[in-house]
Amino acid sequence: MLVGGRHYRSIWLDEVSGLPRIIDQTRLPFEFALRTLARVDDVAEAIASMRVRGAPLIGAAAAHGLAVALSVDPSDTGLAAAVRQLAETRPTAINLRWALERVVRVVAPIPARDRAARARAEAIAICDEDVETCAAIGEHGAALLERMSAERPGRPLQVLTHCNAGWLATVDWGTALAPLYKAHDAGIPLHVWVDETRPRNQGAALTAFELREHGVAHTVVADNAGGHLMQRGQVDLVLVGSDRTTATGDVCNKIGTYLKALAAKAHAIPFYVALPLSTVDWSIADGLREIPIEERSGDEVRTISGRTPGGRIERVELFSAQSPAANPAFDVTPAALVTGLVTERGIVAATREALASLRKER
Ligand code: MRU
Repeated sequence: MLVGGRHYRSIWLDEVSGLPRIIDQTRLPFEFALRTLARVDDVAEAIASMRVRGAPLIGAAAAHGLAVALSVDPSDTGLAAAVRQLAETRPTAINLRWALERVVRVVAPIPARDRAARARAEAIAICDEDVETCAAIGEHGAALLERMSAERPGRPLQVLTHCNAGWLATVDWGTALAPLYKAHDAGIPLHVWVDETRPRNQGAALTAFELREHGVAHTVVADNAGGHLMQRGQVDLVLVGSDRTTATGDVCNKIGTYLKALAAKAHAIPFYVALPLSTVDWSIADGLREIPIEERSGDEVRTISGRTPGGRIERVELFSAQSPAANPAFDVTPAALVTGLVTERGIVAATREALASLRKER
């Protein structure tokens, strides 16, 4: 997608060094800073500290991380250690493990000397496929938005989204935001309510940045405003991403998603989840019991960072360090609250049967 009129992906290989380059998302929206990930430690740090984040992107970054690690130590021991280090960075998004397993499958059987190049090729393939997949999610989702817009002539379609499921969370296009970009480009009038998404503010910092760069009308709201907007008829649909989806259609996404799904159900507002099929964990059926929820530092709740009038980026405390803070990073929305899953293979019901039929097609 475009930043200042120039096309970027969220991760790419430097033409000279061949090393992965990223946009440091901890510096957005006030600074557009690029970073090179020269060692596997840099990749692991970038994922854990959320310089790169979003389910598909952390998978892509981990795949590149494995290639970087194998260029230093391509032995079986080196491979196992790098997989362990990268897998431990974040526990919830299944794409991380999916991407690591995919690279391991192709490099483990071949001679050590060929492994780094093969891993790199696989990481590039994962990135390219992600772009295609997200573009397809965008097409299917845009068709839905077009239908819904046609039922509401003379005014923009009002969409509420949570966290950042845009191009910054994938390699390009995004999941939940891809349909919005495609619909906007097709001339469908839209307005997006952007949940700020405390504590890390991915909505306010990243989704708003993306939508602004693409010229999509949007308004940032406090996370607590969603129910009020729905009650007043100011939301036509909710569209979010997923970090892990069970084989039965339960969806695990950024903390706060579940509350939006409950409010949407209460007001009969469609609640759609956009996801690549790589986000489905086919081995589990009960999201509440089987998906590990990442617990991040309470400091992310206790503090907030922003720009001072003088232009400095500063982090300030919101409450006393003597009050403990808890920070569960994700929650599970049961399939019964989900109207439909927007995948690269079309929109389906959040049921075991519907998901299984897509898997079979694959
Ligand atoms: O903690 P984050 O910022 O990595 O969480 C991201 C989300 O929850 C997104 O909504 C999710 O990854 C789906 S998007 C592609």
